[in-house]
Amino acid sequence: MARGAAAVQRLVRTCERTARRELVGRPDLLTPELIEPIARALQDVTKADFGLAEPWHWRHPEDEAAAAAEAKAEADEEDQQKAHDAGASPVKRVAARPNTPNLLASKPAETYYYHITETSRYSIGIFILPPGGRIPMHDHPRMCVLSKVLFGDMNVSSYDWTVPADLDHNRKHGGLADTVDVGATYSEGMTKVLFPHKGNMHEFYTQAKPTSENGGSLGVGVAILDVILPPYDEGSGRDCTYFVRSQVEDDDASTSLGETADHTTAFPSSRVFLEPAEPEDFYVENLN
Ligand SMILES: [Fe+2]
Repeated sequence: MARGAAAVQRLVRTCERTARRELVGRPDLLTPELIEPIARALQDVTKADFGLAEPWHWRHPEDEAAAAAEAKAEADEEDQQKAHDAGASPVKRVAARPNTPNLLASKPAETYYYHITETSRYSIGIFILPPGGRIPMHDHPRMCVLSKVLFGDMNVSSYDWTVPADLDHNRKHGGLADTVDVGATYSEGMTKVLFPHKGNMHEFYTQAKPTSENGGSLGVGVAILDVILPPYDEGSGRDCTYFVRSQVEDDDASTSLGETADHTTAFPSSRVFLEPAEPEDFYVENLN
């Protein structure tokens, strides 16, 4: 058996053992100690295990380099075979897309999701963001999420409700939240973990960095392997709510800022107001 497939299977087996049925509906049992075996199993999983060994090229569809990258991806089918035990390769599927993701056009950046597996107790999948892409602020009520960066650099801002007991009220009407991280960078191989009351609301984004060194390429974006326990389930109070931030006045009036189009803006205050709002320019395309 290929090493890569073995690593993914080990991750799935560990989730089977760790995400026990009795944990569902018991967010108080989702602790760092509980998920430690999953975090360890995640360490061995790499981008190659999913056929992501080659960087995801985000270029103009007519760009010859993009065509060359797609040809290379096709030629790598033999390597991608390794990932078959864990499902087909996202790269192969994207290479077959008639339209290469095109960030040079003025349309919203798309986010892709590749589903690996899901039970009533856990789910595993990969989000792939283009350079400059973003997953808007959202929550994971009563859940634990491990997010491992498979390639690229991921920036994360995360928050927790100031009054945890107000969870359900705040998800409907908004509420005060305390800052956990603003723009923290996670590079390839790093894993971010959130818990029901620790960094539970977050946004991901990745920079577009055209440089002379990379021939003006916007970069590779970021691929994030998410392990969620238990999964989203609307009927069980675990649906996903999106939010917009606004600054609240604090002792230092000079720090007051409003939400801006530039989502990378750092809010200097440690406290913000999060208000539920459906994102207008966010769309996830399923690669399965
Ligand atoms: Fe998330």
